[in-house]
Amino acid sequence: MFIHKPVMVQQVLEFLDISASDTLIDCTLGEGGHTSHFLGRIKDGIVIGIEQDAEVLQRALKRIKNKAERFMPVLGNFSNLKKIANERIGGSADKVFFDLGISMYHFKLSGRGFSFSQNEPLDMRLDQSKSLCASDVVNKFEERKLAEIIWAYGEERFSNRIAAFIIRERAKKQITMTKELADIVTRAIPKRYWPKNIHPATKTFQALRIFVNDEIEILENALREGIELLRQGGRICVISFHSLEDRIVKSVFRELSRGCTCPPDFPVCVCGKKKLIRTMTKRPLVPDEDEIKINPASRSAKLRCAVKIHKGSANITTTMKVTA
Ligand SMILES: C[S@@+](CC[C@H](N)C(=O)[O-])C[C@H]1O[C@@H](n2cnc3c(N)ncnc32)[C@H](O)[C@@H]1O
Repeated sequence: MFIHKPVMVQQVLEFLDISASDTLIDCTLGEGGHTSHFLGRIKDGIVIGIEQDAEVLQRALKRIKNKAERFMPVLGNFSNLKKIANERIGGSADKVFFDLGISMYHFKLSGRGFSFSQNEPLDMRLDQSKSLCASDVVNKFEERKLAEIIWAYGEERFSNRIAAFIIRERAKKQITMTKELADIVTRAIPKRYWPKNIHPATKTFQALRIFVNDEIEILENALREGIELLRQGGRICVISFHSLEDRIVKSVFRELSRGCTCPPDFPVCVCGKKKLIRTMTKRPLVPDEDEIKINPASRSAKLRCAVKIHKGSANITTTMKVTA
């Protein structure tokens, strides 16, 4: 059976420094790759695994069945992290882990149009109970909004041209399949600007997936909730796979490890903010060459970790959002 290979396992285990009695929340359970390693160390604690995709959750359950008594699977979204933790474990944890993005299952087996290497319907929903799918965005959104999504979430410099090409083509016929869309995007980008190492449609597909699954705008609050949940001395590790995600992780870690935000000429602190965490990775860690050779999908992974030093509010706010 094809199975997702967890990335940077040794580094994650080292930084999380798991004890036998820990309560650990894996916010992106996926196929349970990391969680099976966590369960190898947690002997009388518990691992909660949150996954929004019911099919993927089933695959994790198969992988983990022999350790089921210390494992609590949750079909849900990490945008509800605090609520889930309050209901299941009384609201605090020793370790919190995120491995962002999608699983290899999604690319290779789901049939939901995450990749253009197979010709599949343009769906891209991780949570199949949601109503908006990628073909709705491509066929119904106005040109300006499409360009905005492709620019904001794909950082694609030809976003305006791609949106214009999509509008022109969909006037002739609805765009429902991955190969059709990949072909339109490829034609929209002048050949001399095609990227060397990736397919010309890669960034557009990434943008649509991020938008359909609200991947960016829920991340900041989830990180803040994860940090709030940690007990003193608890640790958080986050693996991201593109710069938009890593920027958010970096800025939340930086803000919460800074503490007082009063102007430097104030004689005493009036904001009352404490440093909640200490960042353990000044720069993000990346997989070594051996791992990339064995698992090329790991090549863009970046790992950041922090330790909780004070209890307190992580001041929940919201980030960038391109609204429908
Ligand atoms: C990179 S995979 C995790 C792989 C996992 N660490 C393993 O080793 O098997 C990310 C998983 O998180 C899930 N996911 C993404 N965003 C989520 C969210 N907001 N809430 C819950 N699950 C999410 C995806 O469906 C996917 O299965």
